[in-house]
Amino acid sequence: MGKQTASLKGSLTLGTTAHPYDGQDGGTASQTGTSIFDPVLCELAYRWFSPPGGVILDPFAGGSVRGIVASKLGRSYVGIDLRSEQIEANREQGLAICDDPHPEWIEGDSRDIATLAADTEADFLFSCPPYADLEVYSDDPADLSTLEYSEFRQAYFDIVAASATLLKPDRFACFVVGEVRDKRGNYYGFVPDTIEAFRRAGLGYYNETILVTAAGSLPIRAGKQFEASRKVGKTHQNVLVFVKGDAKKATAAIGKVEFAEIEADEPRIDSGDDPDAEFGERL
Ligand SMILES: C[S@@+](CC[C@H](N)C(=O)[O-])C[C@H]1O[C@@H](n2cnc3c(N)ncnc32)[C@H](O)[C@@H]1O
Repeated sequence: MGKQTASLKGSLTLGTTAHPYDGQDGGTASQTGTSIFDPVLCELAYRWFSPPGGVILDPFAGGSVRGIVASKLGRSYVGIDLRSEQIEANREQGLAICDDPHPEWIEGDSRDIATLAADTEADFLFSCPPYADLEVYSDDPADLSTLEYSEFRQAYFDIVAASATLLKPDRFACFVVGEVRDKRGNYYGFVPDTIEAFRRAGLGYYNETILVTAAGSLPIRAGKQFEASRKVGKTHQNVLVFVKGDAKKATAAIGKVEFAEIEADEPRIDSGDDPDAEFGERL
C-alpha cells in the first residue's frame, strides 16, 4: 500500500461514528466502543469505480471517512445524514483535514435526497447503510435503524431508488453491507434485499467482493455459539457493486486504473502471467 494510504489512515482515527462491522457475528470495536469505515476500502472503491475529479454521493454518510478520503483523492463528495451532531463533527474534521475539493455534508432524511441533493450529478454512489436494527443511531423515527424490518426495507428501497436517479448514466454504485439476524436468529436477507433494491432501481448487479474484517473476539465466542445453535461465526462484509447503464462505458468514464504512489525503495512484486486470465470474463 502506498504512503498516501498510511497517512490517510493516521488522520482518520478522529472518526466519530459507530460502524456495524461490530455486529452480532463478530468484529472489533475501537477503544471508544465505536469503529470507523475502513479508509483503505474507501480509497480502493474510489480509485477503481469513480473518475478522478468525479462526484461521490452518499445517502448514509455516518462518520467523516468517505468524505475525507474523497477530498484527498481529488473527488467531490456529497454526504447526507440525519444526525446533526454527526454532520457537525464531520464538517469540523473536514475543515481541519481537507483542502479543495471540500467534502459537503447535508443534514436530512435521505428519503428526500432528490431535494436535498437536487443539483448533484453523481459519478459514483457509495455508502454503508444502517444494517437494519443492528445499531440504533438515534431515536428519530425517520432513522431507518429504529424501524421494523418490513418498514426499514421499504424506506431503504425508496432511498436506493431516489439516490440512483441522481447517478449519471453509465456509472457504478457500491454499497457495503452485512447480514443481520432477527430475534429468532435467522438472517433478514439484508444482502439479497440490497441487490433487489438496486435491481428495482434499474441497476445491474455487477461485482460481489468480500471485505474480511478483524476477527476480534469471534474465535473465543464462535465455538460456544456453534455448539449451542449451529450459528457459524461471520467475519466479513459484502461489498456489492452495481452499474447504471453500460459497464464498458462506465469503465471508460473512469479511465485507466489509478494506483497509489509507491516509494522508489519499496520492493515490487512481479506477478508474472495470470494463469486464470482467459477465464476472467466469466468469473
Ligand atoms: C451505518 S451508519 C453509517 C456509518 C458509516 N458507514 C460510518 O462508517 O461512519 C448509517 C448512518 O445512516 C444514518 N441514517 C439513518 N437513517 C437515515 C435517513 N433516513 N436518512 C439519512 N441518514 C440516515 C444514521 O444516522 C447513520 O449515521
